[in-house]
Amino acid sequence: MKPEELVAAALDARARAYAPYSHYLVGAAVLAGDGTIIQGCNVENAAYPATICAERVALSAAVAQGRREFVALAVATRDGGAPCGTCRQVMAELGPEMAVYIADEHGAYRTTSVRELLPDSFGPASLHR
Ligand code: THU
Repeated sequence: MKPEELVAAALDARARAYAPYSHYLVGAAVLAGDGTIIQGCNVENAAYPATICAERVALSAAVAQGRREFVALAVATRDGGAPCGTCRQVMAELGPEMAVYIADEHGAYRTTSVRELLPDSFGPASLHR
């Protein structure tokens, strides 16, 4: 799978973002170990803290669909904005080895990784020492 395909899936999901408050539309797509792509978008709420980010929607949906192995995640915003801290923590929990593609609305992207985005993280092993 080419990164461009995952970025395209994130852009596709972004078109379904529910962001009537911030107007900051975010789409995400995660590539599971079995080759499937699961999409997510941000879903805002009038009670602002109840908002959920696109990355966590995608990863949660993937887990709900039975996936536990993740290879890569793409996130698309208007300006190539980086994932928030909470999303980085969830990525580290579920896909510590993932490549991460951070794209803008035109599909231009940069490549990074969960390890780079959240070094020295608290993770599953931290509870079992
Ligand atoms: N948002 C995401 O979907 N992912 C992030 O990593 C950063 C922020 C959303 C949440 C909210 O709907 C909007 O972007 C503005 O914060």
